[in-house]
Amino acid sequence: MRMDKAQRYYLQRMGIDVYLERDAVSVQPVPVVAVDKHVTADTEAAWEVLRNEVAQCIKCELHKSRTQTVFGVGNQQANWLIIGEAPGAEEDRQGEPFVGRAGKLLNAMLQAVGLQRDEVYIANILKCRPPNNRDPRPDEVSACRNYLRRQIDLIQPHIILAVGRVAAQNLLQTETPIGRMRGQRYSYADTGIPVVVTYHPAYLLRSPREKRKAWQDLQLAMQIYKESL
Ligand code: URA
Repeated sequence: MRMDKAQRYYLQRMGIDVYLERDAVSVQPVPVVAVDKHVTADTEAAWEVLRNEVAQCIKCELHKSRTQTVFGVGNQQANWLIIGEAPGAEEDRQGEPFVGRAGKLLNAMLQAVGLQRDEVYIANILKCRPPNNRDPRPDEVSACRNYLRRQIDLIQPHIILAVGRVAAQNLLQTETPIGRMRGQRYSYADTGIPVVVTYHPAYLLRSPREKRKAWQDLQLAMQIYKESL
């Protein structure tokens, strides 16, 4: 909501903080979980099969060093799907994506556009932690690709937010630097699902001045999402 001078004045008179105005925020409630998505016994069964397959996966070397697989978390009927890179140490310990420091920032980023963590679905390109948080290797990404694809097919999100270079490049099958991918609308594979790319929260913790760009990306994603309703 862009506020004009008069609005600011009245809000201030009413004792309402107007610090959000600087960046043209719109946090009016929008429906973020589809109530009308078709949940059948088949869909439930497909989730169960997939979850078990991932838990037992030994398709790449990462199974040897993991504590557990990190399947994904959130609302299976979510309209928003957030995709990161791979579990880190804390995620490997807890079995849930984005639970460390970067996860806390991700939650705050989502909240800034009115999304709660439990209203979206959060997954990663890889379901297992690469040792010492190294970049995923191409064979690991290939081994895991079908799991993510099946999650996407089950969720049928209205929008995918790719956080970080690894997620963006692998989802969109490109080597374009992340800085050049931001600010645009892409589509995921053959699905037509819009994808918006933003910086990884771990990067934003190291480079807080880039948060402003991430904020713009989130606004773009929200705008595209609203158009999909
Ligand atoms: N970084 C990611 O990309 N994913 C996680 O789950 C945690 C940190």
